[in-house]
Formats: sequence, C-alpha cells, structure tokens
Amino acid sequence: MKQRTIAEPYRIKMIEPIKMTTREYREAKIREAGYNTFLLKSEDVYIDLLTDSGASAMSDWQWSGMFLGDEAYAGARNFFHLEKAVQEIYGFKHIVPTHQGRAAEHITSQIRIQRGQYVPMNMYFTTTREHAERAGGIFYDCIVDEAHDPASAHPFKGNVDLNKLQRLVDEKGANAIAYLSIAPCVNMAGGQPFSMANLREVAAWAKRYNLPIIFDATRAVENAYFIQQREEGYARKPVRAILREMMGYGEGCTMSSKKDNLVNIGGFLATNNEAFFVKAKEMVVVFEGLHTYGGLAGRDMEAIARGIYEMVDDAYIASRVRQVEYLGKRLQDAGIPIVIPIGGHAVFLDAKRFLPHIPQEQFPAQALAAALYVDSGVRAMERGIVSAGRDHTTGEHHKPKLELVRLTIPRRVYTNLHMDVVAESCQALYEEREKIKGLEIVYEPETLRFFQARFQEIGG
Ligand code: F0G
Repeated sequence: MKQRTIAEPYRIKMIEPIKMTTREYREAKIREAGYNTFLLKSEDVYIDLLTDSGASAMSDWQWSGMFLGDEAYAGARNFFHLEKAVQEIYGFKHIVPTHQGRAAEHITSQIRIQRGQYVPMNMYFTTTREHAERAGGIFYDCIVDEAHDPASAHPFKGNVDLNKLQRLVDEKGANAIAYLSIAPCVNMAGGQPFSMANLREVAAWAKRYNLPIIFDATRAVENAYFIQQREEGYARKPVRAILREMMGYGEGCTMSSKKDNLVNIGGFLATNNEAFFVKAKEMVVVFEGLHTYGGLAGRDMEAIARGIYEMVDDAYIASRVRQVEYLGKRLQDAGIPIVIPIGGHAVFLDAKRFLPHIPQEQFPAQALAAALYVDSGVRAMERGIVSAGRDHTTGEHHKPKLELVRLTIPRRVYTNLHMDVVAESCQALYEEREKIKGLEIVYEPETLRFFQARFQEIGG
C-alpha cells in the first residue's frame, strides 16, 4: 500500500506575516550582503531555510511555561525541571546549562582534551571541531567513507568506521585519544543517522580501550526516528525508548537545545561522570553564569524542559522528518542532484553536480545559495569549501568532498506549500544553471569564516 499522509499533529493559532519582495530588490540585497546569506537581514527573506537552529515554533505549553520563569540568581525552580527532563529523557545524571551548544563544547573541550590528543569524530561540526582544536586537540575523522559520497544511498551514513578507530589506536595508542565525539544525524554529512548496531559496536570497542563517548546530541531524536524506521527490531519501539538506549552508550553529551529541544535559545552539557561535572560547574561560572542557569533565564530553562518532553512524541517527530522528506522527494522528482538518503533536518543540494561549470575554488555552493535567494527570497546556507575553512598551518583551503547548499527546515514553522515554493525555485535555477557565476572572496575572517566572509561575482 502507498504510504499514508501524516499531517501535523497540531494546529496553528498564531501567525507571523512575512514580506514578499521583488527580484530587483533581492539582487540589490544580496550584493550588499557580499553574496553571503548570513549577512542578509531576516526581514528581506521570504522563506528562511538558513538553519533549523533556534528557529522552531514553540507550543502553547512551552509559551505558558515562559510565564512561570523563576528568575532568581541561584537555584531557580526551572533549573530543577530541566534537570529532571534531562534525567528522564536522556538518562544522564548531572546537567550544566549553557547559553547554547558551543558553550557546552567549549567547556567540555577545555576540560577533557590535553594538548596534542586526538578527538575522533564521525565527520565534524564547525564549532565542535573549532573548540577541540582551540583546546589543543587534533580532529580525526572516523566516519564511514560513504558519508563523503553524496550519491551513496547507505541508510546509515553517520556510522563510525571501526577500522579507522583501530588504525588510530594502533598508530598512536589509546592514551593519545581524549574521547570519542559522536554525533547523531551528522549535520555536515547531510543529516545522516548512525544505526544502533554500529553504536553498540563502537561502544564495545571504546570500552576495551577505556575511552568515553561524549555525544553531540543536538539532533539525537531525529536519529532515533530513523532507527525506528530503518533498523530491524526497532519498528515498534517509541523514539523515547530508542533515544534512552542510544544515550546509554555514552558518558555524557553536549547539546544545542536550539534544535531537537524546540526552543529559540539554550543548551547544556550532561554527564554521568562526577569528576567532570564538578570541573564543568567550576568553569561554567567563569564563562556562562551560575551552574543553575548557565547564561539562561529561568523561563528559557522551562521552555527547554517542556520541549524535551514534546520532542519525543512519535507523531511529532514523524511529521517533522517527513516534511523534510517531502521537499527532498519533490527535488528528486525534478531531477535535481541532492544528497541521498534525504536527511533528518535538511535537504542538501549537491552544488558540484548542480553547477559543474564552477570549480570548487570559486565557491559553487556559496554562489548557488545566493542565486536561490535572488530567485525566490528563499535563504539557504553554504556547506562546502567556505564552511570547511583553511588549514591552520598551511593556510590552504580545506577542500571537502561535499560541496553542498543546505535547505534546513525549522521545526513546526512552515507548511508543505512553502516547501513547494522552494522546490519550484530550485527547479527554475536548475533549468538555467549555466547562468550562475562563480565567486571570489573580498573579505575573510580568520575563524568560522562562513559566517562573515564577503564575496563578489567573478567578472560581475
Ligand atoms: N553541534 C551541531 C551538530 C550543530 O549543528 C550545532 C549548531 C552545534 C553543535 C552548535 O550549537 O549553535 O547552539 O552553539 N548548528 C547550527 C546549524 C548553527 O545551523 O547547523 P549552537
């Protein structure tokens, strides 16, 4: 039987108007923004698929919780609600709130990495890698090769390649490794999940060498959903149980609550390691705030706590991931090259195949994201050579195999008609793709350059 439609398990009771603009207007705005979609004003954007981070719509239950914020400096009741939610849903004992995910990464990296130690990751995320490197760590990619191939249909492209881990231990010894940093639904690979079977093997391997797993749990619920849908033995398990099992293989996690947790700001680190927790509490007061608020208002912690319970609702997570799938399938039907399988939070256009006439040093994904904005006011994000940055020692561009434009779907915000508009715009660009020109850099910050770099059209 054909798969039945799943509609949103909620209805809309408040709306936010968005501005419609003309092509001429958008041409001027993208030039002013140096062809960098991060530098556009939000009010000039029609459908904002820059990121799924902090862009979720909160529920009436979350909003009503915002009025129950206890804004005491110390020991606010909302902290204890958050602590309980993390203990119940993620299963970790201790929690340190932070203003967002990268703050938890900063604290974790500084405490857990000794200069010169390796940090194996299943691919990388920009801030996670940056914080590991700032702490003197060396990034080591241990993801399966399929993850670097946008055309591989492997159902679990977020899997760890155990041979790569073994090679590192054989060459450098287990003491040269700080911890394994494992991310569910790997963002830079296209939102690709790992399987529970793979995680189980990784955990068993890590135990042999006494190496802890610290998850970047940012999109763990979406990964749990894919396990439910794709992995044998999980079809009848609720995502809530799958998430608990998954987290059970780790010593702790860093978390950007701005994704799975359905809030606009916040994060935390959570751990079962008492000694790490004590050090993290010491550090959070220096960089974030007291250990019972970590840079967040009481009301923000309440919204996170409630979002944590809402995110594990099976009907919600199915409709969320299937909306992403809806957009992806429309693009596939139009013959547009995208990363397969379709990810959990985003559809990734393959800019190398979309714009084969633009060499990677001329930033094809950056150019494609700019062209998409001009065509329809849809804002996307480059995830390719610009995001990968430069080698700190040689100064050369890192040249990632993946040169992608990310169409990231915020949670509970847009309808499938919005997705249709996006798909039609991509199709219009694809039909006239040879008109899109390459770019050159006119300004480049030293770190995380993709946020603020400025470009101009070559020969434009
Ligand atoms: N880890 C992953 C996998 C992420 O995707 C992000 C943020 C972070 C950590 C950092 O969390 O933003 O709360 O400090 N990703 C956003 C994105 C920015 O658009 O993908 P943060």
